Amino acid sequence: MYVCLCKAVTDRQIRESVAGGACTFADVRRQLGVATQCGKCGQMAKSIIETTVKKAAFEHAV
Ligand code: FES
Repeated sequence: MYVCLCKAVTDRQIRESVAGGACTFADVRRQLGVATQCGKCGQMAKSIIETTVKKAAFEHAV
């Protein structure tokens, strides 16, 4: 689904960015341009990044 309509960024792209090494909102923002216009998508993007990072850390620990 589209998370950022201004930059046409999807949740999948955000997860792929994290899988590719982005660890923070700033990293993903820099890579994809998410939340760089109206900013309404910022909270949703942060939530997806946080969940993805935690899931990756959990899977790495198991
Ligand atoms: S919806 Fe992402 S910057 Fe506007």
